[in-house]
Amino acid sequence: MDDAPDVGELVPPDRTLMGPGPSDVHPRVLRAMATPLVGYLDDYYVDVMDDVQELLRYVFRTDNEHTLVISGTGSAAMETSFTNLLEPGETVLVPSNGYFGDRMGQVAARAGAEVVTVDAPWGEPLDPADVERAFDEHQPTVFGFVYGETSTGVRQPDVPELTGIAHDHDAYVVADTVPALGGVEFQTDEWDLDVVYTGSQKCLSAPPGVAPITFNERAMEKVRSRDSEVRSWYLDLEDIWEYWGEERNYHHTGPTSNTYALREALRLIAEEGIEETWARHRRVGGALKAGVEAMGLPLAVEEDHWLPTLNPVPVPDGVDDGRVTERLMDEHGIEIVGGLGPLGGEIFRVGCMGHSARPAKVAGLIDAFGAVLADEGADVDPEAGAAATSRALRDGGA
Ligand SMILES: Cc1ncc(COP(=O)(O)O)c(C=O)c1O
Repeated sequence: MDDAPDVGELVPPDRTLMGPGPSDVHPRVLRAMATPLVGYLDDYYVDVMDDVQELLRYVFRTDNEHTLVISGTGSAAMETSFTNLLEPGETVLVPSNGYFGDRMGQVAARAGAEVVTVDAPWGEPLDPADVERAFDEHQPTVFGFVYGETSTGVRQPDVPELTGIAHDHDAYVVADTVPALGGVEFQTDEWDLDVVYTGSQKCLSAPPGVAPITFNERAMEKVRSRDSEVRSWYLDLEDIWEYWGEERNYHHTGPTSNTYALREALRLIAEEGIEETWARHRRVGGALKAGVEAMGLPLAVEEDHWLPTLNPVPVPDGVDDGRVTERLMDEHGIEIVGGLGPLGGEIFRVGCMGHSARPAKVAGLIDAFGAVLADEGADVDPEAGAAATSRALRDGGA
């Protein structure tokens, strides 16, 4: 056996997180994480769970009783949705216009479903007419869509129309709101969604590791009337509900510190007010958009589908996107990220989520981004970008 490893104390570098997530975390949330642990069935912790559920109903805009937190990241909530709703042999309809729609299909296939797609190019939303055609052709029992596609920065409009089409075909609708919930308007009940999930580390601005999810009664009836067992022990919703519902029985050990953190992050949103939180993301994301566009880089998304929390900025001709992201990180401590899949080398993905959606952070990013791009030989106008951002922040009253 070798000697004990000699690793140093943990001293993370100072970063501003403006990529596709995680986002910066408010000091109050970090402090909540550092408070003492209690047992996972301690009365105090049970009250914390109750608070989290109440706060989540507020943020999801739902009265759903089955509103809870999955112990895992956003992908665990995605998997919970599809493994519980689908039985082997059922057909699921998922989008082909982004990386996470594709992941939905992979997850559903492992749950034994037949996967069919409704197609749109990366960078475009789904057209409800195509969704209707896909329903007529394939008769899926479950339709999943991505409200904010992190790989493209596209917000899916027409949600009530999509849920209407699915319900007319007696199907269930799952919405992925990972980079959107708590950042842009989303109305679970009013828009008639059956299952909605998100992650903790994006607009909610808590550390990664827990994933909020909500099931309406209609979806729960389908879950309760399954013929076959859910294909995951850990993510079987009815078993998890033993812990999150009235019973409060052991299912697995609750992630205490992450749950504290999520509670504090949600409390911050409730204090600000959900509508004001959406408005701030729009205002500050709008200043970011104004800055890059004035620099000479119009976003690679149409205004109608713009997702203020994730901005796809085109990579200027002749510029190496990897060098730009690396220099922003090394010289300015700012994280932004390049494109995924077919958009690799085509776009930068610039986030503006949660505690990172603040005027000073966006102003700092625009200054640094403009300077690095110009230095890398891009045909951009950094001064015009900085001026447009500060004008937008001032005029928006941020
Ligand atoms: C739209 C979307 N869905 C699902 C996920 C998966 O979440 P996680 O990485 O937290 O597992 C992500 C992560 O970026 C996402 O952006």
